[in-house]
Amino acid sequence: MKRIAVLCSGGDSQGMNACIKAIVDTCTSNNVTVLGINRGYQGLIENDIRELNKLDVANIETIAGAIIKTSRSAEFMTEEGFKKAINNLKINDIEGLIVIGGNGSFRGCRDLVHAGINVIGIPGTIDNDLYYTERSLGFDTAVQQAVNTVTDVKQTMYANSRAVVFKCMGRHCGDIALHTAVAVEADSLAVNEIDYSISEIISDVKNSLKHGVTSPVVILSEGCKLDMDEVVYEIQAQTHLTTRGIEIGYIQRGGEPTYYDRMLGVRWGVLAVQLLMQDMTNLALGIKNDKIFTTPLIEVEHVLQEFRVDMVNDLRTLHALPKI
Ligand code: F6P
Repeated sequence: MKRIAVLCSGGDSQGMNACIKAIVDTCTSNNVTVLGINRGYQGLIENDIRELNKLDVANIETIAGAIIKTSRSAEFMTEEGFKKAINNLKINDIEGLIVIGGNGSFRGCRDLVHAGINVIGIPGTIDNDLYYTERSLGFDTAVQQAVNTVTDVKQTMYANSRAVVFKCMGRHCGDIALHTAVAVEADSLAVNEIDYSISEIISDVKNSLKHGVTSPVVILSEGCKLDMDEVVYEIQAQTHLTTRGIEIGYIQRGGEPTYYDRMLGVRWGVLAVQLLMQDMTNLALGIKNDKIFTTPLIEVEHVLQEFRVDMVNDLRTLHALPKI
């Protein structure tokens, strides 16, 4: 293939820009024309497409977001919107399309594959909820952002002997909350993958107080069933500690990408172009045990989550709590 395009879709994630840069640089070095589709599938429907060159992507690897922007397109899911998208791929002579995004975006990839379009899918979501791959772009930075936030807030909480409850992003996947909780040695963790009640959280907090902790930290995942304000209220009512609740929010999607997300973005970007140049297509890229791999795009939705209960148990052992 000699003419390819790239788009980002769904929530942006750190490392997307490093990946876009690697795609553009690899194409430019190998005499392949590369087009950037602005605003994801919506931009494809609206034919918002431009050629990208090395100058367009200079130094973008150090910033979060996506220079070609992203969107969640409801229109792409309609028959009419989808037809327009296919038509614009044809009008622009796009031989291969690279999609960087999360599981919603991958559903779009599968529809495109069924319509005969050559697609490569690159996992880009802070949620880490594409379960065929150990990591997706942005997850590492999102956890680092959450860890930094908890660490900073803990300093003032500690000075005031207060308890604090944090809520992490991640939609239905508890990975950001889990990794953050272990890194900060949280006193209690509730994620949607494991049934956990407010009274169990209170019991964890009381256990930490008994062991000399003066400023307990509780981490909740976005998808867990518990209401943060209720957890805050109950801790305060049952321990008499002043307690605050903090939704970490979009700061998890910002900040300078970690070296890991940049490296992953570069490796996947290079590989995606290499594959399309060799007419190898309809693949999803992933990483497992530090090894990059490819797998058929239409199969990845069937891979189920393997939640890291061992990590939860590390945390529980640290606080002398029974394992789950
Ligand atoms: O998928 C990434 C994510 O940040 C989720 O963790 C969160 O639930 C969602 O996007 C927020 O979406 P939006 O940016 O549309 O508010």
